[in-house]
Amino acid sequence: MPLKLTVIGTGYLGATHAAAMAELGFEVLGLDIEPAKIEMLAQGRVPMYEPGLEDLLARHVDGIEGSSGRLRFTTSWQEVAEFGDVHFVCVNTPQKHGEYACDMSYVESAFAMLAPHLTRPALVVGKSTVPVGSAERLARTLRELAPAGDGAELAWNPEFLREGFAVQDTLHPDRIVVGVTSERAEALLREVYAGPVAEGTPFVVADYPTAELVKTAANAFLATKISFINAMAEVSEAAGGDVAKLAEAIGYDERIGAKFLRAGIGFGGGCLPKDIRAFMARAGELGADQALTFLREVDSINMRRRGHMVELAREAVGGGFLGRRIAVLGAAFKPDSDDVRDSPALNVAGQIQLQGGQVTVYDPKGMDNARRLFPTLGYAPTALDAVRGADAVLHLTEWREFRELDPAALGDVVRQRCVLDGRNALDPALWRKAGWTYRAMGRPHA
Ligand code: UDX
Repeated sequence: MPLKLTVIGTGYLGATHAAAMAELGFEVLGLDIEPAKIEMLAQGRVPMYEPGLEDLLARHVDGIEGSSGRLRFTTSWQEVAEFGDVHFVCVNTPQKHGEYACDMSYVESAFAMLAPHLTRPALVVGKSTVPVGSAERLARTLRELAPAGDGAELAWNPEFLREGFAVQDTLHPDRIVVGVTSERAEALLREVYAGPVAEGTPFVVADYPTAELVKTAANAFLATKISFINAMAEVSEAAGGDVAKLAEAIGYDERIGAKFLRAGIGFGGGCLPKDIRAFMARAGELGADQALTFLREVDSINMRRRGHMVELAREAVGGGFLGRRIAVLGAAFKPDSDDVRDSPALNVAGQIQLQGGQVTVYDPKGMDNARRLFPTLGYAPTALDAVRGADAVLHLTEWREFRELDPAALGDVVRQRCVLDGRNALDPALWRKAGWTYRAMGRPHA
């Protein structure tokens, strides 16, 4: 009999994981405590923009014409416990209000709700990003609360998906990491991931703390790489060098690699910023805080980028924002996403508005979320409308649509042809040829 899987928590991670598991051929039951979310998913819709996800749901959600019918949704814990051999816990772990530590309440309540219904052997698999040491504690909770006792086992299997590539990353991951304490748990997870492993995806078996740490270490490394190149941008700017050229040149060294070396206004989103902070907090609890003090610097280099962009904009419009119109291209924290959580673009837009600038924002997908979070900013329906009458155009999220803009057409409607590229992603030659002053971060000001 093929394994039956459940996915607990159908937000970003859970909805993608559920659909991907159905694509791999399993029968899947997704659970969420929000009935509205379940209703939407049952119609094959998701409340966020993620390329390919709705198509994947449509291929499998039961009741949709032509679907495999392998994917269903529910709000019943009992139904989930009766149905599943393997339960994936995919709830979120946001940053606690006013603290660095991460909020484990959703994970803890998922375990508390599921465990009392586990009357037969089952494997519960945590996928959420958690402080190291959580799995050990949750395994105990499971043993104590589940009627199946030792038959209810825990594994930890961190998720590395990127927004904008969630479907691809889940179906074709770079690696699969599992933290297990028994051969049975390992065998079950090998069965679940047999498809990607057959395609050559490495399968790394570890203990609980190592599996938990792999995720936080990977995100800490990525954040460090971005802040490293942004630190080089600061030095390049001071010395009159070009950080984009520098990044290209060091990236040819295979030990360094070319990816994640784009200098600009820095990282944001729902993962990297909160994960490095939670990592520092946890290291402190473990008495290893000195090991991660460099992450405080990674965080502050990153936050400085936003302020620096505001300063460049102020300079560009003559030293003060009062009476100046600023067009902001980009609201999402990165392209191909409508996520505006801790978005550097919106942070810059908000700071400029607070300092008296008249800001108009346009983003291909992030407008609704941006409006909800920053209702007092101005918004325009197109890039052209956003730049009309602008004294400076700030390019803050590198959507393809912005790279394909015609600088000549935009030049006809602005007050001043001045573009500041906060992502080092536009073609300087193209903009300069059309009569624009192009300025980027960490590059010479021509
Ligand atoms: C990240 C990790 O990449 C992923 O593995 C993990 O599971 C979740 O966190 P995500 O938050 O979707 O994924 O975004 P990512 O593509 O990593 O980008 C994060 C931020 O870094 C974005 O704001 C992006 O604009 C910025 N960034 C990225 C840079 O500033 N420069 C770069 O070179 C790359």
